[in-house]
Amino acid sequence: MAKRVSLLWRGRRALRVAARGTNVALEAPSVFARSLVFGVAEPSARDQYVQNVSARSAVIAWMSEEPGAGFVQYGETPELEHEQGDGRIGKRHAVTLFGLRPGSRYYYRVAGAQKTASFRTAPEGPGSGFTFAVVGDSGTGSKAQLAVAGLLERMEPDLILHTGDVVYPKGDDADYDPKFFAPYRRIIESVPIFPSLGNHDVDE
Ligand SMILES: [Fe+2]
Repeated sequence: MAKRVSLLWRGRRALRVAARGTNVALEAPSVFARSLVFGVAEPSARDQYVQNVSARSAVIAWMSEEPGAGFVQYGETPELEHEQGDGRIGKRHAVTLFGLRPGSRYYYRVAGAQKTASFRTAPEGPGSGFTFAVVGDSGTGSKAQLAVAGLLERMEPDLILHTGDVVYPKGDDADYDPKFFAPYRRIIESVPIFPSLGNHDVDE
């Protein structure tokens, strides 16, 4: 059975795997840690990003600097004609966009973000194709990881499968910025990563 995988950014057990349905879903409350100083948002390693992109839905995840309700503006043009909220008050946000059209590019921007990003929904129907990349044991923060991240950016696959050991040595919250969000920040804003649970994601 396929598994639903949730990345939780607290404590030692960063990855929680629960069998739920038939979809593989990475539900990672992103950390959209922007410091607003005099109205200027500082860059952060953790920014808005996409997860669990399907033909008709997608999750936009991020974390806000201050607790509040999360909102995403989105649409098939950069005008972002739609808005969706997550209905929770907090710093961690994950908004699911429903009713999307298959094989279509969507633009989005979360509340407070300075940049509009985009992703493409999965194609549907006979003859539709897609590309994907597979990576694993990536979470070292090394030059080799950055080199592969650059390659992934140039490939622009429709999705990325991660075979586990997302962050060494044991999936600590503090390691996710330098070993996941920073190396992949330009990728994950538009390409979903579907992870497996590695032994180093829960223990040394
Ligand atoms: Fe490994």
